[in-house]
Parts: sequence; C-alpha cells; structure tokens
Amino acid sequence: MNDPNGFSYYNGLFHMFYQYHPYNAVWGPMHWGHAVSKDLLRWEYKPVALAPDEFYDSFGCFSGTAIEDEDGNHFLIYTGVMSRTQADGTKKEYQQQCVAIGDGENYTKYESNPVISTSQIPEGFSVLDFRDPKIWKGTDGDYRCIIGAKDKDDKGQILQYRSKDGFHWRFVNVFVGNDGNYGKMWECPDFFLLDGKAVVIVNPQNMLAEGFEYNNGNNTLCIIGDYDEGTDTFIPQICHSIDYGIDFYAPETAEGSDGRRILIGWMQNWDNSSEHDIHDPYFGQMSLPREIRIIDDRLYQFPIKELEALRRDCVEYRDVLLDDETGEIVLKGIEGRTIDFEVEIYPDDIDDMYDKVTISMAKNDTFHTDFIFRPRESVVKIDREFSESRRAPVYQREAEISNKEGILKARFILDRYSVEVFIEDGRQVMTATIPTELDAQGISFAAIGKAKMNVVKYILHEDELCLYS
Ligand code: FRU
Repeated sequence: MNDPNGFSYYNGLFHMFYQYHPYNAVWGPMHWGHAVSKDLLRWEYKPVALAPDEFYDSFGCFSGTAIEDEDGNHFLIYTGVMSRTQADGTKKEYQQQCVAIGDGENYTKYESNPVISTSQIPEGFSVLDFRDPKIWKGTDGDYRCIIGAKDKDDKGQILQYRSKDGFHWRFVNVFVGNDGNYGKMWECPDFFLLDGKAVVIVNPQNMLAEGFEYNNGNNTLCIIGDYDEGTDTFIPQICHSIDYGIDFYAPETAEGSDGRRILIGWMQNWDNSSEHDIHDPYFGQMSLPREIRIIDDRLYQFPIKELEALRRDCVEYRDVLLDDETGEIVLKGIEGRTIDFEVEIYPDDIDDMYDKVTISMAKNDTFHTDFIFRPRESVVKIDREFSESRRAPVYQREAEISNKEGILKARFILDRYSVEVFIEDGRQVMTATIPTELDAQGISFAAIGKAKMNVVKYILHEDELCLYS
C-alpha cells in the first residue's frame, strides 16, 4: 500500500481507502483498498472499492478524497490514469479526475467519467502530472476541488476547480503557487480550516534540503494562511515540514463527528520503497492517527486520545541520573515493541550542560535504533543505521527543538516495526519504520555529561486490535 485515500467520517464510521496493489508487495496498477473503523485503532477490512477496470483508469486508480453528497452517498473523487498512443507511436500516461459513488461498502464509477479531463487543464500545464483531487463543500453549497499539477517550468502548483453538483467542473485559479523553492511536482494536496486559520498540506517531489526544515526528495509541507471563500483565494503565510523523521508522506485528514481533525500519513518514503524484499508479505503501513491543531502559527500533532485506552502496566522512574560513570543503563520494565513511553530530560546542573543523551530502542546485542539529543545545539536525531537493514537508504534525520535550556520532552510510540516520536508536546514529530526482528525489545539510556531523566512507560495492549497475520 501507499497513500491514504478518501479518509472520511461517513455513516458513523471512519473510512480509510488506500493506494493498493493486491497482487504482490511492489507498486503496480493501483486499486483502492478499503478499511473502516469506529475508533481509528481497530480496523475492519472491506472489499477493494476501486479497481483499474475502465478505459480512463486502466493504468491505475490514483489518489483522491471522499465526501458525503446531498443524497447521503459516499462520493469518491480520484485520478484515473490512462495510457494514450501518440502520433509517433510512443505512449503517454494521461491523468484525469473521476468519480465513484457508494454506500460505504460498494462503489460504482460514474458513467461519464472523467469529470475533469485534460481539456480543462490550463494552457502550459502538464497532462501527465495532474492528480490527487481534494474535494470539499463551501458554505455557499458549491463544491471545490484542488488538484496537484505541474506548470511548463516543472514547478508544482495547486489548481482549483468549482462545481454545483460534483460532476460538472470549471477551472477557477491557481490556488497555491510555487516559485520553484518548494520542489517540483506537488502531489496529494489537502485543505481545511482549523483554529481560525486555513491550512494547505502538500507533498512536493524533488525538493532541496534547507537547514533542518526540508530534506532532499519527497516532502510533506503544511502551509498556514488565510482563506477567502468569496473570491476562492488562499493567502499563504507560513510553511514548515510536517514530519522530521524518515518515513512520512502523502497524509490525508478527516474531521470526526466531534470536530477533531485527524491526520494519517503513509509511513514510508519513495526513496526507500524499492529497497525491500519483494517476498515480504506486505509493504507499506499507515502512521498512527494524529489529532492536529494550529497553535502559535504551527501545526501540532498529538496521538489520538483513543490510544490511551490501550495503555496498561505503567512503569515510572523519576530523576534518574545519567552520566559518564553510570554509562549505558537499562531500567527494569522499560522495554518492548508495542509501547508508549514519555521521557523528560534535563540538566543535573544548569551551569554544567551535558553534551548528549542517547536513547536506544528495539535493541538486542546486535541491533538498535537511536534517538539522540544534543542540548548545546538543541538538536535531536533519529538514527536507524543499526536497525537490521541490509541496504543503505537514508537512515538518519535531525530536527531543531525550541527549548534552549537543555530540556527535552518526547513521547515515543513503538508499534512493532515503527517509531513515532512526538517532541515538545506535538510541536515536531519524527517517524521512522524499522525492520528489526521483534525479539529486539530492549531500551537503554546513556549520557555524555550529567543529565537527569523522568520516564513513564505503558504497554499498548493489542489483543483486540485488527492485526496483520
Ligand atoms: C503519492 C502518489 C500520488 C499518486 C499515487 C500513485 O505517493 O505518487 O501522487 O496518486 O502516489 O500510487
């Protein structure tokens, strides 16, 4: 699987569709897999919702979104990719937007697909890179749709379309432009209002790294700004990365019945996706659902509160001393691979700042994944070089935290083959998958200099969860 698709709350359930190749564990003609959940933790798989079986999507049913229409139907909009033979005999893949209507279980493609065809792409924009529609309904009752696109200079842009009924669309404007600073093709846009601001999430390909902010390659950005529905305009103000780890891409958001905005991302990255063994039983997984908020002009992320109901067997330590003499320590009961633990690290003496703290997870005699904090630079790093990978894809990434007094607060959620670290109460998140064998359950702590630490750890009790088997 890759991107989440059609993530929405419909008829009392969260629906999560996803880019899916059912026949093996490598990318192939895309289908929409489908799962539903009441609490975002226990998921029930449903039959595949869309397969590439029409002339206009024969190359794949690419990403898209979902909404409930006036008649109470579940309305899916996705990118149909088709191959067309050119005059010179070569083939090109065209991308157009298509609709399917369903009841939460079965979906039927609209008979006059595509609803936004290549003829509606403005002059100069690519017909090969026009994908991943995000649909919403304005307060005036009209549908809006934004679509990832690429202009003639290879710069990613977001195009906006508008419709009365969801089937007949007209081009409105370039919703968000990109002068080339933010990578090339822009994939999987999202848009919503939250905490008095308007937020665009977008995934540029081929970005250049910029300090701690963006890494090279495919990125996920959030652009915070203002929106004027009357003129269909978005005014961007602030832009930052959504995840500072290694594996997080193409998230979608949904609003729950209680008004929370929940974000889920594909917990992988394209640069690593060809590095796995094709005989693996699966490839690709989703991040934890995260509640998002805008606080002080930043997007904050919190593991959904439902997760707390799975916590068992609290183990707590306070004011543990870490220094060169204690060396690497393990704390009884602090271990495991399906756990939720929080650490607070602080200097033993503010006038004698320590140099470094290392937390090693998923550890046995051979393997470990490290989270390192260097307080003098306020930098954290995730490093999975020794996590049992036999290839050499990207294995580490750094982020700068806001605290400048040597204090770090971080919540770690390990879910067997992944680590998600929520830093400074959700101000930053670092996500990474790890291939480490499951008997590597250990956790150790070490410091250079004198640091102190509080730790609280829970097992995440997974008996009732729907697990891959
Ligand atoms: C993003 C993406 C989308 C596309 C889908 C194809 O990861 O490239 O732009 O719709 O994956 O699987």
